Amino acid sequence: MQLQGLSKAFGQLRALDEVSFVVAQGSLTGLIGPNGAGKTTTFDLIAGVQKCDAGRILFRGQAIEPLATHQIFRRGLARTFQVPRPFPTMTVLENVLLAPLGQLGERFDANWWAVSRVRAQERQLQERAHGVLQWCALADKAGLLAGQLSGGQQKLLELARVLMIDPQMILLDEPAAGVNPSLLETLMERVQMLHQQGITFLLIEHNMDLVMRMCQRVLVMAQGRLLAEGSPREIQDNPKVLDAYLGPTPVAA
Ligand SMILES: Nc1ncnc2c1ncn2[C@@H]1O[C@H](COP(=O)(O)OP(=O)(O)OP(=O)(O)O)[C@@H](O)[C@H]1O
Ligand SMILES: [Mg+2]
Repeated sequence: MQLQGLSKAFGQLRALDEVSFVVAQGSLTGLIGPNGAGKTTTFDLIAGVQKCDAGRILFRGQAIEPLATHQIFRRGLARTFQVPRPFPTMTVLENVLLAPLGQLGERFDANWWAVSRVRAQERQLQERAHGVLQWCALADKAGLLAGQLSGGQQKLLELARVLMIDPQMILLDEPAAGVNPSLLETLMERVQMLHQQGITFLLIEHNMDLVMRMCQRVLVMAQGRLLAEGSPREIQDNPKVLDAYLGPTPVAA
């Protein structure tokens, strides 16, 4: 995926200012930066939740910035939310089943001859949903209301929902925030397994240990711009990055 000169303003605020970067296919890339840097806005633009003011977003060589969210999702580009957004009064299973769009059963033209096809498809979806929930360590929560899950379990549910569509690329927005250590291990293990299967990840995360451990390449944003990019080690040693987090180092008198 490639961002070319992406800009977005909210009134006077330049949330993104000509941001360009490449996320190599099959990579697990980190996106870090202080609060308000424009990381989530970048995800919103990629996923089509917000429209950019200028710039291009190429996914597998094609411009996706003109597309609607569901079209982008159907191309296999999925995102999770910084604050999980399940439907709290529906069950965990129902939340997962909602993810795949455009099911036959939802279409008006499903007539009598299509009924068996619809049923077969629903059965497949149910099976897949149970499989995905099992894989995400949520099988025993399938019947609970999504609002009853802990914060960490809701993060896993976010992952389960995107896995219903066979994604090519997943944008994870702070998956570790508020997740207890044992669930975090599960979540990260799952991400690494998916990465090994060839899924591309772009990971926003404030937990630096995790970023340094998991990512091959790290992008750093600050104040709406791309500040630096490189290997985790290069980023750790980059004084510009330290300045962005801590403010400029005072010069010794
Ligand atoms: N819908 C919006 N309307 C107005 N301002 C917004 C909107 N969304 C984001 N902003 C502003 O744009 C800037 C970038 O916000 P963004 O959420 O992208 O930052 P972030 O890097 O994800 O930060 P954090 O690490 O705190 O999640 C912030 O100053 C934020 O207040
Ligand atoms: Mg954010």
